[in-house]
Amino acid sequence: MSSIEAVSRQPTDSHPAPDTTNALLQVDGLSIDFATAHGWANVVNDVSFDIGQHEILGLVGESGSGKTVTGLSILGLVPMPPGRLAKGNVWFGQRDLLQLSERERRDIRGNDISMIFQEPMTSLNPAFTIGDQISETVRRHRGGSRHAARRRAIEVLDLVGIPKAEKRVNDYPHEFSGGMRQRAMIAMALSCEPKLLLADEPTTALDVTIQAQILELLASMRDEIGMSILMITHDLGVVAEICDRVVVMYAGEVVERAPAPALFETPTMPYTEGLLSAMPQLGPAHGKLASIPGHTPEPWNMPAGCRFHPRCPYGKPKCTERPIELRSTGPEQRSRCIRSEEIELRGIK
Ligand SMILES: Nc1ncnc2c1ncn2[C@@H]1O[C@H](COP(=O)(O)OP(=O)(O)OP(=O)(O)O)[C@@H](O)[C@H]1O
Ligand SMILES: [Mg+2]
Repeated sequence: MSSIEAVSRQPTDSHPAPDTTNALLQVDGLSIDFATAHGWANVVNDVSFDIGQHEILGLVGESGSGKTVTGLSILGLVPMPPGRLAKGNVWFGQRDLLQLSERERRDIRGNDISMIFQEPMTSLNPAFTIGDQISETVRRHRGGSRHAARRRAIEVLDLVGIPKAEKRVNDYPHEFSGGMRQRAMIAMALSCEPKLLLADEPTTALDVTIQAQILELLASMRDEIGMSILMITHDLGVVAEICDRVVVMYAGEVVERAPAPALFETPTMPYTEGLLSAMPQLGPAHGKLASIPGHTPEPWNMPAGCRFHPRCPYGKPKCTERPIELRSTGPEQRSRCIRSEEIELRGIK
């Protein structure tokens, strides 16, 4: 842990704290590298987005695009080494989360900001009951008696729809089904009423019915607790269900940012069009379900210019010449495609 602190305290660009009147959290120019056999590989590059109060923001992209690393870095949970913070700031109010001490960060974690991890079983300890684990979180952040913490554990298990919560609170993780474990994880994350929930693929491992229930639960928690959610997912179906705005990542970079309706109806980045046409429910009704040909590049072997150009059906030589900045393509919409004005992409009406 001390290595995380040591690295995160390396000098970074010292921007003044931004005006966060409307944003709850602002990620600003975040770049993370990992040490590999090929040297330092950049896996998150100059990523910027903000999350509004009570907003559900989707962070989408294929496997390996840097979603989890981005989410983990908000809470200072990227293992360093092998990782390093190359640059960037994560503003939460007037505080840069990347400059906190480990102790300050621990205070924020679970209290102001909670995370549901991609693999629920790795975050639940098989040796302790569900109730003990939730109570522990409550007592760590809120203090109070064991009895009060246990009452809170039952209350949140009930809130997330665990039947007979007063009884099931004594169960061990293996006594819960996959869907119930995911609910227990959410209960633990919500037990201190965080302002922000980072949910990393919270429904991926679940069957469709349970998935719908969990999404509904998360959306209702936003209203009930008044929190914001960063929903990390590779599934645009999940985004369509509950997200207000969307950030699309490709090969470590933000390639499109838009309100959800605009992203679906008028995408302005060919990669987004590819993701949309690969959606089973919403893809083209006629013809075969498309998948984006090719693979995401290895972090140590990124193509020059637009990182998507080797897979892009609209690629031109100018796409390869230099790095391309995010550009405005509509109200609140940004795209990294240099040809966004010349091409018409297919959305889903
Ligand atoms: N601890 C680590 N050491 C080295 N490389 C890592 C480490 N964690 C992540 N990476 C690399 O960083 C890149 C981004 O990984 P990340 O887990 O953020 O992707 P993701 O978008 O969450 O993918 P998925 O959809 O599969 O969860 C990948 O190339 C991955 O191999
Ligand atoms: Mg991930």
